Amino acid sequence: MKIYCGDNYEAMGRIAGNIIAAQVILKPDCVLGLATGSTPLSTYKTLVEKYENGDLDFSKVTSVNLDEYKGLSGDNDQSYRYFMNTNLFNHINIDKSRTFVPNGLEPDSEKACKEYDAVVASVGGVDIQLLGIGHNGHIAFNEPAPFFSKGTQCVDLTQSTIDANKRFFEKEEDVPRQAYTMGIGTIMSAKKILLIAAGEEKADIMAKAFAGPITPEVPASVLQLHPDVTVVGDKAALSKLLELV
Ligand code: PGA
Repeated sequence: MKIYCGDNYEAMGRIAGNIIAAQVILKPDCVLGLATGSTPLSTYKTLVEKYENGDLDFSKVTSVNLDEYKGLSGDNDQSYRYFMNTNLFNHINIDKSRTFVPNGLEPDSEKACKEYDAVVASVGGVDIQLLGIGHNGHIAFNEPAPFFSKGTQCVDLTQSTIDANKRFFEKEEDVPRQAYTMGIGTIMSAKKILLIAAGEEKADIMAKAFAGPITPEVPASVLQLHPDVTVVGDKAALSKLLELV
């Protein structure tokens, strides 16, 4: 595992953005696994700046996102499709028909999950998967559980995740209670993993996930078994992990 520490959130985003940019330069038709949340914003800002400067070409890139709220359409400003469009896809020359997010409007969970597994298989595997980490160690919406999930699944969000995400909604009742998420098995099959974390409130979970026991109760801990993991954080998020590794 490689660990890079940026001085602050913006620096973290520049480092992570540079790593993704390197992937796009080295393999212009790569498959990017993308993530939502507040952590990736500075990473996406770096990618948009590089595109605007003429340093990056996304025209042959395919992307697959980790998750989507069940019940939200891509037009809903809280959906992850909307997030991706407004924070990245609308600002770069990616072919939107090659950007994939689980279909939040499919009410049949089994069908939605099967379809998304087929999408991920059809793009031929993820070259680099960007991940955030939840306060409880979740990756995508894979919450602490007695076992590691395999493929795409429909999950009930935990109260801790609802609490963390309610800041984006008008009221807590508006936060969807379920989401479709890529499974841990699929995430682990990405060739490279790039996990980003910012802020003091992530310091404990970063230490637990990367220097603690591997357990499905801390889903991100499984990444210790992945052969090519890069962690990029700001000083605050890495403060405890760096004392242990
Ligand atoms: P955040 O979410 O980037 O908004 O902190 C991370 C996550 O829950 O995966």
